Amino acid sequence: MTKFYTTTAIDYVNGAPHIGHAYEKILTDVIYRHFTQRCENTYFLTGTDEHGIKIQKTAGEKGISPKDFCDMNAQKFIDAWKALDVDYSQFIRTTDKQHEEIVQKIFKKLVEKGDIYKHAYTGLYCSGCEAFLSEKDLTEDGLCPDHLKKPEVVEEENYFFKLTKYKDAIIKHIKTNPDFIVPAFRANEVLNQLENIEDISVSRVKSNVSWGIPVLDNPEQVIYVWIDALSNYITAIGYNPDGESDDKFKNLWPADVQVIGKDILKFHSIYWIAILMALDLPLPKHILAHGWITIDQTKMSKSLGNVISPTSVLEAFNLEIPDPLRYYMASSAPCGKDGNYSDEDFKEKVNAHLANSMGNLLNRTLSMLVKYFDGDIKPEFLGKNELKNQALETVKAVKHHFDYFEVQEAAQKIIELVDITNKYVTDNAPWTLAKEGQMDRCGEVLTNVLQVMTVIASLIYPYCPNIAQAMAEQLGYDIKTKLDDITCESLKAGHLIDKENIKPVFLRMDSELADKKK
Ligand code: MSP
Repeated sequence: MTKFYTTTAIDYVNGAPHIGHAYEKILTDVIYRHFTQRCENTYFLTGTDEHGIKIQKTAGEKGISPKDFCDMNAQKFIDAWKALDVDYSQFIRTTDKQHEEIVQKIFKKLVEKGDIYKHAYTGLYCSGCEAFLSEKDLTEDGLCPDHLKKPEVVEEENYFFKLTKYKDAIIKHIKTNPDFIVPAFRANEVLNQLENIEDISVSRVKSNVSWGIPVLDNPEQVIYVWIDALSNYITAIGYNPDGESDDKFKNLWPADVQVIGKDILKFHSIYWIAILMALDLPLPKHILAHGWITIDQTKMSKSLGNVISPTSVLEAFNLEIPDPLRYYMASSAPCGKDGNYSDEDFKEKVNAHLANSMGNLLNRTLSMLVKYFDGDIKPEFLGKNELKNQALETVKAVKHHFDYFEVQEAAQKIIELVDITNKYVTDNAPWTLAKEGQMDRCGEVLTNVLQVMTVIASLIYPYCPNIAQAMAEQLGYDIKTKLDDITCESLKAGHLIDKENIKPVFLRMDSELADKKK
């Protein structure tokens, strides 16, 4: 694998980022960072979705222009992702000029191709979904089931996209590529939705929705926000509908995995795929639909007042690095299933895994190396490593899980290796070996453990980049080592570390020491 292009959904900017938005960005960042350990050319796109009636209305209620409102809120997303060390390559805003111009050209191309046509229409529009709903989608009281609001009756002459033309091709693609939709159990949902698919309205009259990209040859019509938003995945990297695309686009497209929430799978596995087919572009290799995050097992909602911002969690626990939250979120649910956030569980899990098991293992092993050998690895310690096979098997297993975007499952494998290594220390009791004067064996055991710790640092890096870096520094290990180059033999004979350079890589969140640091 030489290149890896991944994207997230782009968030609506009608509010500040919450922990659900953060979950998706962290999950994608972990996947992205893992593949930077395997590929040379990698790219990670995220951003904000800024047009549409919802933003127009919210800005209006606040008495500010939609653009000012978007500028203010987009910055909150940028700041939050920075605080979480989300290492995206590009942050696109759908109000970027380049994006707007390319979207107009895409629309024009589809009109010229005959895939977009004009049609008078009456429909029910839910501004929460930014979508038309049919009568059968509504609750008994005629409300949108997701937003519990009555949709607005819209009677307009709009442009329509011939979605039905692509129905059979999409069904065939999903059926012949069982790994296209991840997890696979969601494919049936999409196939059911495809049964009743109709052509969709892809513009609104400007007098009703003014905050959007005007149709190039008919500025009285504004392009439907989902067509605008979905296009970001190709506009950002320089797709050109009526000429030669940028090299970046040629090198990156199709995306390797597009990460989205389960609620917007229909838009991505039906609408987006049809647009790409209409543009004669290759399709993304995988669409990963993640589950939703609840708070203390309850759906997050403004009315319940339980919406949590990711930065408030970092502040509440006085965390100087986002690694614990990243680790917790990324391993909170099996691939595609719903996850949950709770303060107690967060604290318990990261204390157990990152502080007690992993951090402590490194700390006490290095301390023993200093105590018994002045921090030196002697040539005679570098014999056969009894843990090497297990370490290399774990690398293989982690790679395999990431090939299927099983981020939680991969984390479990890493912690299993930490547990195996802890058990090896207990079983071999280097302190007893030292007491009995079996110094070569003692040094060998400690060195074996430290060799495995370099592997663990590499594997945990996508989840905990700061902790992994701190581990690597104390081990004199290059954290940029590609996963294929891991040997579990990177430590060589010589002086490794002095006492004053041994530092805990992560302090228990409720420890006195962590409190003092604060
Ligand atoms: N703007 C559209 C996406 C356009 S993509 C071309 C949108 N925005 S959103 O702000 O409502 O949601 C952004 C992403 O956050 C979606 O993938 C959505 O599933 C995800 N989440 C929103 N709330 C969530 C949780 N509570 N938990 C996990 N993810 C959630 O949809």
